[in-house]
Amino acid sequence: MPTLGLNIDHVATLRQARYRDWKQGLPPEPNVLDAARAAEQAGVDSITVHLREDRRHIQDADVRELANAILIPLNLEMAATPAMTAHAIEIGPEEVCLVPENREEVTTEGGLDLLADLPRLKAVVRELNAGKIDVSAFIDADLEQIEAAHRIGAQSVELHTGVYANATSLRARQKELARHGRAAARAHDLGMRVNAGHGLHYSNVREYIEDVPHLYTLNIGHAIISRAIFVGLDKAVTEMMTLLRSREYVPNAD
Ligand code: PXP
Repeated sequence: MPTLGLNIDHVATLRQARYRDWKQGLPPEPNVLDAARAAEQAGVDSITVHLREDRRHIQDADVRELANAILIPLNLEMAATPAMTAHAIEIGPEEVCLVPENREEVTTEGGLDLLADLPRLKAVVRELNAGKIDVSAFIDADLEQIEAAHRIGAQSVELHTGVYANATSLRARQKELARHGRAAARAHDLGMRVNAGHGLHYSNVREYIEDVPHLYTLNIGHAIISRAIFVGLDKAVTEMMTLLRSREYVPNAD
């Protein structure tokens, strides 16, 4: 059974909708650290945040505060830039996940193309590892990208599940599951951990974990934070964890 990493970017998105220019007065809400602590209490295995170059949701202070205060591992998603690398080493999350970043995108749109930049990415991994930070690469489930992740020295890959999550036909979904299965097996053979995420939901996660081997962590955000609005974070997390563990789970059943 894979572990659950909760992505709490959208807690910060809600806060920034009101408090983008906040300087003083009442503490901004919802509080990101409180959300991480509530998730920790509910049993998630790790917390994920994406510190974007445009700082549209998570802020530098959030990452610092989380790294100091939570007891479970912090996975920091970031672009592989010199500034972010230095920042990560100073803050010290347990893991960094290298992601592509495009200013105009609403959310991360595709995997990082490791082949386009092998020597530079290898140097970034070496630097982060020297700072005692494990590195994961967020990539499409392509065998060439898996091999490249191994070549840059990444400890883990995170398979981009967006195409699977957005597939509208059974045939398309099955094709993606087969592709992810092959990619996961190759990454495992090369000694890397296999994580996955993006667009995973209460309705599609079970099929994914039944078909894709060697999964270590699933990083899930939007579906859980959205459900938390109706049932609370504790229940939204518990429901997802139950789903990861059980075949009999029925979403929305009380
Ligand atoms: N993993 C990565 C690398 C991501 O960029 C995201 C989205 O921020 C997620 C996982 C979580 O995706 P979602 O919010 O769709 O569950």
